[in-house]
Amino acid sequence: MKIDCTIDGKTLTLSLNSDKPLSLILRENMGEEGSVNHCSGAMCGLCAVLVDGKAMLSCMVPAFEIRGKTVVTFESFRRTRGMRDIEKAYESVGAYPCPDCYASRTIIFESLIDEAITDKEQILRELAMVRCPCMDPEDEIMIVQRGIELRRKRNVRRSQLP
Ligand code: FES
Repeated sequence: MKIDCTIDGKTLTLSLNSDKPLSLILRENMGEEGSVNHCSGAMCGLCAVLVDGKAMLSCMVPAFEIRGKTVVTFESFRRTRGMRDIEKAYESVGAYPCPDCYASRTIIFESLIDEAITDKEQILRELAMVRCPCMDPEDEIMIVQRGIELRRKRNVRRSQLP
């Protein structure tokens, strides 16, 4: 089937098996090497990407679900201003994901901050997609809260520009 989508800012029409997982599309069709050593079956949580702004495990997203959607990988997200908010939130809380889960966890933080999710249970439920135990849940909640504050301040400043 033909799938129209946008991946990391590129508008694409891909000819694919409709069930092909997004993680494989990124690897085989986009040359992304980031998920090569991951589990491919929702066990590690290390393959998160943003699909229309929502964090999803790319190994669990079939091709037909990205039809007409915008996919952003960590490789692309890391170059955005949104990434600066998250880096500042990590710094301000004094807690960082380990190198193994940094990309995936950062993508999930972005999704929570972008949606301004403040419900602690929801924050922890979303972050539980990543199985790596490197972070303290209280720190994770504080990072989301701090990130939402920073994002709001930046949006206010932007809206005051002439
Ligand atoms: S590759 Fe492990 S959860 Fe997707």
